[in-house]
Amino acid sequence: MEKKEKILVTSALPYANGPIHLGHIAGAYLNADIYVRYQRLKQRDVVFICGTDEHGAAITLLADKLGKHPKEIVDYYYKDHKETFEKFGISFDIFSRTTEPVHYETSQEFFLSLYNKSYLNERTIKQLYCPNDKRFLPDRYVEGTCPHCGNPGARGDQCEKCGKWIDPLSLKEPRCMICGTTPEVRETTHLYLDLRKFQDRLRAWLDTKTHWKDNVRNFCYGWLNEGLEERAVTRDLDWGVPVPLKGYEGKVLYVWIDAPIGYISATKKWAEQIGDPERWRHYWQDEATKLVHFIGKDNIVFHAIVWPAVLMAQDHYILPFDIPANEFLNIEGRKISTSKNYAIWVREYLEKFPPDPMRYVIASTMPENKDSDFSWRDFQTRVNAELADILGNFINRTLTFVRKNYDGRVPERHELTEDDRRMLALIEAWPQKVGEALEAYEIRKATRTFMDLAREANKYFNDAEPWRTFKEDRLRCDTALNISLQLCKALAVIMSPFLPFSAQKLWQMLNLDGDVERQHWDTTGAEPLQPGHQLGKPEILFRKYDDDVIEEEIQKLERIARQIEGEPVSVDEPKDAKSEEKTVAQEDLISIDDFGKVQLRVARVESAQKVEGADRLLQLQIDLGGEKRQIIAGIAQHYSPEEMVGKQIIVVANLKPAKIRGLESQGMLLAATDDSGKLCVLVPEKDMQPGAKVR
Ligand code: MF3
Ligand code: ZN
Repeated sequence: MEKKEKILVTSALPYANGPIHLGHIAGAYLNADIYVRYQRLKQRDVVFICGTDEHGAAITLLADKLGKHPKEIVDYYYKDHKETFEKFGISFDIFSRTTEPVHYETSQEFFLSLYNKSYLNERTIKQLYCPNDKRFLPDRYVEGTCPHCGNPGARGDQCEKCGKWIDPLSLKEPRCMICGTTPEVRETTHLYLDLRKFQDRLRAWLDTKTHWKDNVRNFCYGWLNEGLEERAVTRDLDWGVPVPLKGYEGKVLYVWIDAPIGYISATKKWAEQIGDPERWRHYWQDEATKLVHFIGKDNIVFHAIVWPAVLMAQDHYILPFDIPANEFLNIEGRKISTSKNYAIWVREYLEKFPPDPMRYVIASTMPENKDSDFSWRDFQTRVNAELADILGNFINRTLTFVRKNYDGRVPERHELTEDDRRMLALIEAWPQKVGEALEAYEIRKATRTFMDLAREANKYFNDAEPWRTFKEDRLRCDTALNISLQLCKALAVIMSPFLPFSAQKLWQMLNLDGDVERQHWDTTGAEPLQPGHQLGKPEILFRKYDDDVIEEEIQKLERIARQIEGEPVSVDEPKDAKSEEKTVAQEDLISIDDFGKVQLRVARVESAQKVEGADRLLQLQIDLGGEKRQIIAGIAQHYSPEEMVGKQIIVVANLKPAKIRGLESQGMLLAATDDSGKLCVLVPEKDMQPGAKVR
């Protein structure tokens, strides 16, 4: 008998310092979940591990800012992440956390083993120290200009722009992230992981990974070719896993050492929970296990270089089999920024929409080989034109037809036409076709392929014309509906990794026993439905979204984008936490030439009216001095049409025209908003001629 394949799948442990957004989902969670759900349907021995990453400067900095203990922060976000993932259908076998006692034990054990095998070197080094806060400034506690690329917003551990590791002492113009003081240099003692000792082994190992994605592999060779160096693995912080050595009191492990060990401690926790505490070894300590880490590209070096080195230094642990790292997801053409609140927060999304449509859209546009873009228009198109009009429509037509004309019972299958045979062959072949893409982590391709089956099914139903044959050729009609229902069954199984909630609904509409996620990927779809089987009640699986729903989401993002752009860059603003978050990051500074591209003009509002069916919009006719234009502005909740008429406003005159609610908007007016939700339109301080230039 074929030995059951063992697969241990992990998703990067998210930092417990902010909510989950769409970029997370597209980077390391939805792809992993689809892969795992598929493997479960293949009846393979698979475990899916995740949890929150609760240590490190990312957490303590936020705690400092909010005046809270780090534990309060991580408790809050642990719960938040766990719930969000559950509601979105990310089906971890365990969602643990790195503040569990078992995690501290495991991390210390790993660390001691590195130490005892002489992979750690003690170094007394000079480090940045804030005389005002009376503390050392590790990692993100200090910012300055990157010595490699000149990025003015580089952090003390790594430059986000060029990706290089940074020695904080080499930062130009360093400043304390707590108080802004220029730090001084003091001596402290740390342990360094000697990665040089792993260089050859890592290269030999990497040479065997010909099946990896090119982006990941090339990135690793880049590091190896530059030559690995020592890397500090302890920190002067009072939050983290304590260094288990004499003389290191008050110091903790560097978060990137303990975090990946979280994959192991979480597996231990899982084993305990299923009542088989040693079960974790069955994965981590057996060469037959394929260990697959789903991560975003910013995590590659830690997973493909540092982490394997740490594992190599232990006895009897497996190494990663694959690291399918994704690139980044942008939103409406713009980089996600959590600090500037430019993101789609999954929790907020789920308050308005069901998970499956977003799962479908993200799966279709996943940033597998390059950065990709999410846009609400694309969401609308894919949901309306694909999920609703193809997949949902086919299922609904089939089920309602059978309910109406056959009392909801599966009709018999009689003599087969070529078309019927072709569809039955597709049902047989499709699981493997979709499966091949999934095995290669090609989620986009798999999603397209699965939808192709629905497309075929829809066409088959059309061509069969059951509404005609029901009266003219009943046997034909019976057969076509029998096969259509069989297609519904096959689709339920095939769509289940992508659209788990809808798949289960469909399964129930077909009145089949158990859960669709417990079926067999290869065989269930083709197992014939019994003629006479009573079906359940058909329901609409996917609803369509109207323009105004979508427009509202777009406007929400645009408002934030405008806020980001409109924020003054000020150095002497008070440095409280809030204003800190809101000043434009240095990396987003634009040149005077960039600014010059925007043509701002004074205009006069000639007439104004509400846009029917859109509470927020006003339709304005404006005089730009020799030119009349129409603009659609989202200000109706703040200004009546009467108030606007006669007003002088400032507009962006060279914006590409856009259709809003079917109306063309030929420009954009400037307005300011604040946190209280107030909005004001910007007006010239003196009466100006329409068309006057603003600069
Ligand atoms: N918390 C890290 C991040 O969000 C990921 C940690 S992955 C792990 O970028 F391997 F360290 F757990
Ligand atoms: Zn300071």
